[in-house]
Amino acid sequence: MQNIDKKKIRLENRKYKKITGVPHPFLKWAGGKRQLMSQIDPFIPENFDNYIEPFVGGGALFFYLLPDKAILIDNNPVLVNAYQVIKNNVDELIELLKQHVNDEKYYYKIRNIDREEEFQEWTLIERASRIIYLNRCCYNGLFRVNSKGFFNVPFGRYKNPNFCNEKNLRIIHQILQNVKLIHGSFELCIDFAKKNDFVYFDPPYSPLSKTANFTSYTKENFDEKDQLKLKFVIDKLSKRRVKVLLSNSNNDFILKLYENYHIEIVKAKRAINSNPCKRGNIKEVLITNY
Ligand SMILES: C[S@@+](CC[C@H](N)C(=O)[O-])C[C@H]1O[C@@H](n2cnc3c(N)ncnc32)[C@H](O)[C@@H]1O
Repeated sequence: MQNIDKKKIRLENRKYKKITGVPHPFLKWAGGKRQLMSQIDPFIPENFDNYIEPFVGGGALFFYLLPDKAILIDNNPVLVNAYQVIKNNVDELIELLKQHVNDEKYYYKIRNIDREEEFQEWTLIERASRIIYLNRCCYNGLFRVNSKGFFNVPFGRYKNPNFCNEKNLRIIHQILQNVKLIHGSFELCIDFAKKNDFVYFDPPYSPLSKTANFTSYTKENFDEKDQLKLKFVIDKLSKRRVKVLLSNSNNDFILKLYENYHIEIVKAKRAINSNPCKRGNIKEVLITNY
């Protein structure tokens, strides 16, 4: 009975979202899954307790599901700070966002502030407002930093970027009140996931070829060793009867690594790729242990 009720609430939430258009991810994020929801939906377990997303990024599935209780993890400190500020200081954040302007000279001033000493004095709220503004006004909504950790995406030249969507931010603020936000690596989910929880892993993908390098979300890349560590974590959760769904590339390495799991190949649209020829439909995998 309890499980049926939970499903009903989730469906109600989704209906509400359809009518109002909110909440939705407050950032554009490389590898974001917003366009893939109809393909992912059939693989969402009917019922589960906690929802855990260890590579949350823009959180497309989290905002689609709107679970009652959730734990969101990411190792990008700038991103996790933005979630934390929306959770704890949404009024001040909105005030600061309203002060930004969509102008190239102003954009570069805000972008390059992280190279200056004065940036050390910036509050966490100012930093969150900066990154939400940059994300909406930069080229393709990329988050990319150089080897020194400085944001280096050029101006996007959008006519009317919506960097202060007050309604969306206020609803997200409410939703996040029941959510634990963690800055750290994906392995941390082991400390929280229990039987009948649902964990969705959407890591930086294993490259399709040796030359195809994926976008760097932070200074560190996610390499083959990390993919193996992730498999180890997924095996451990599976033994605990945690429900696991994993998105990844459709390549031989991943297919072999997860040969004992259920693998479904789905079509995906890649919107963010520095090479325009490589944008378009490609195949990805959805892997489950149920
Ligand atoms: C493909 S994106 C997730 C996209 C997300 N599903 C969405 O819809 O926007 C992968 C995320 O993993 C994060 N990440 C990379 N390495 C990580 C690690 N070792 N632990 C936790 N998060 C990591 C990146 O910062 C990035 O936000």
